[in-house]
Amino acid sequence: MRRSRIAGVGSYLPARIVTNAELAGRMDTSDEWIRQRTGIGQRHIAAEGETTSMLGVKAAEAALAHAGLKASDIDLIVLATATPDYTFPSAATQVQAALGITHGAAFDVAAVCSGFVYALTVADKFITSGSNTRALVIGAETFSRILDWEDRTTAVLFGDGAGAVVLEASEGKGDASDTGVLTTHLRSDGRHRAKLYVDGGPSTTGTAGHLRMEGREVFKHAVGMITDVIVDAFAATGYSAETIDWFVPHQANQRIITASAEKLGIAMEKVVLTVDRHGNTSAASIPLAFDVAVKDGRIARGDVVLIEAMGGGFTWGSALFRY
Ligand code: UT7
Repeated sequence: MRRSRIAGVGSYLPARIVTNAELAGRMDTSDEWIRQRTGIGQRHIAAEGETTSMLGVKAAEAALAHAGLKASDIDLIVLATATPDYTFPSAATQVQAALGITHGAAFDVAAVCSGFVYALTVADKFITSGSNTRALVIGAETFSRILDWEDRTTAVLFGDGAGAVVLEASEGKGDASDTGVLTTHLRSDGRHRAKLYVDGGPSTTGTAGHLRMEGREVFKHAVGMITDVIVDAFAATGYSAETIDWFVPHQANQRIITASAEKLGIAMEKVVLTVDRHGNTSAASIPLAFDVAVKDGRIARGDVVLIEAMGGGFTWGSALFRY
């Protein structure tokens, strides 16, 4: 059976770090409130002129180097973002051009914080169907550009960054002992738009708009939605909270992550947490966290990794793979 395996992973964070203390000097908030309610201690913010596709290119280059591959080996780029450089063309084609790739296809996927799970799912389908051989799956965001810096309820939560994996075709037996993506589960429900949205866009206001969120409402739905799709991933593969090696969740809020892990019975030692250093980087958060845990030696070849995300739309989803 044709599978898609993760050949390499990479990430990139803008140089500038903004601490909670710095934000507390600019708005009515405190390090204590932000840490207690979210687990966030700092976030990275892109420099002026540093765009989403620039972050994506750096993450992609790191993932290619880790895989020992050249850009010309790639025949598909799927880039998840809610903050593209332009209304069009896609950020994916910007990355394609910057990497010097002129064959294959590149396109963006819009699923906000669930974007990486969506993009991985799409790329896995393209590879396992036989249409493509090697894909760059990228999550890249500059949420700092769509934040209302006067709104303390959202401005303290998000950061900028990018992460990428190289997916490549491989042969497996067709069971849960295979290496590569073993299952993916995507969900959405557009009735929840008003709880988390951006109040602008090309066909409404003609502006990029600002992020608006009813945080408490999102929080209320998050744990249930996350655990539903994880139960689906366990049912599809036979893996369980006990038998997975690592849980790399979307990094929105440490309280949501802890509550989800507890509800599912996943031991906290298996949970990769980067929200303290990165904040919520939307579609970039999972590949950023995955890269950290691979490069520091925690996640090793052969380990079974569970990922999940939930965000604007609402969209949510999970994937389970053997690295
Ligand atoms: O990745 C996409 C998905 N997004 C999420 O998963 C986010 C989900 N939601 C959350 O993570 C949490 O709801 C937040 C972190 C956004 C907020 O935490 P909360 O415990 O739900 O707080 P709250 O909104 O109920 O606000 C509690 C209090 C309020 O004051 P009152 O009304 O109790 O007097 C807020 O005005 O905290 C106040 N507050 C702040 N205080 C200091 C809100 N933001 C801040 C702030 N600093 N930055």
